[in-house]
Amino acid sequence: MLEIKDLYFQPEGERQILKNISLTIPDGKLVCLTGPNGGGKTTLAKMIAGVEKATSGDILLDGESIIDKDPTERSRMGISYAFQQPVRFKGITVRELLCLAKGGTATEDELNEVLASVGMEGSAYLNREVDTHLSGGEIKRIEIATVLMRDSKLIVFDEPEAGIDLWSFNSLIRVFEELRDSRRCSMIIISHQERILSIADEIALIQDGTVGIHGSRSTIYPLICKTDCDDCDSCFVREKGEEI
Ligand SMILES: Nc1ncnc2c1ncn2[C@@H]1O[C@H](COP(=O)(O)OP(=O)(O)O)[C@@H](O)[C@H]1O
Ligand SMILES: [Mg+2]
Repeated sequence: MLEIKDLYFQPEGERQILKNISLTIPDGKLVCLTGPNGGGKTTLAKMIAGVEKATSGDILLDGESIIDKDPTERSRMGISYAFQQPVRFKGITVRELLCLAKGGTATEDELNEVLASVGMEGSAYLNREVDTHLSGGEIKRIEIATVLMRDSKLIVFDEPEAGIDLWSFNSLIRVFEELRDSRRCSMIIISHQERILSIADEIALIQDGTVGIHGSRSTIYPLICKTDCDDCDSCFVREKGEEI
């Protein structure tokens, strides 16, 4: 279980980005964070992964405070993070990256299977370098595959839908559903996508650096997702005119 307690973040000379965030991610649950752009979702994800350091507050994994641990230590403890904008690595192939994630080696079947789950052909990608020649969508899918190779306690996906075509997206949704049903790990998925929100156990709205509303999908989803609400005032998910 991940517990976030009274988290504040105010970079020097800046306004408060996160204010009094308290949130619990129960074991085996899929929790979606959603809300307007600039609300603080990515910042919160970075705090969980240890990439950014909170000004005050605490984060506990299975009762142990991880707030002073660096990203590598948190990763060893089982926290995986798929960035909104993944990093590229020159001189390393997709195969090597996936094997590293697995902890050393992986079979051809495992490699092909994990790439297929994000809509990619192993034969076309395994020997390619994870460099600037890959498109934004390809690098994003490879990063998600890397996270799936790890044995994680908690996975944070930051807008996994970004740059992903519809076909791969359908396959990705199935991956999330399978992970959710296996209950092997907890998942936080930051998303604006109604199809992702619709498979969550819980949904929390992050707005102006705080947790707005949080509860079960059945309670929150109808409040924030109305397919015919292009012009209504009660939809918090899409800012007016925002493309998904
Ligand atoms: N280190 C930082 N210094 C200054 N501003 C920051 C920093 N990190 C995030 N922000 C600002 O905080 C706000 C929230 O950003 P972000 O967490 O990326 O929002 P979201 O992911 O919900 O769209 C944005 O206005 C962003 O520019
Ligand atoms: Mg973001």
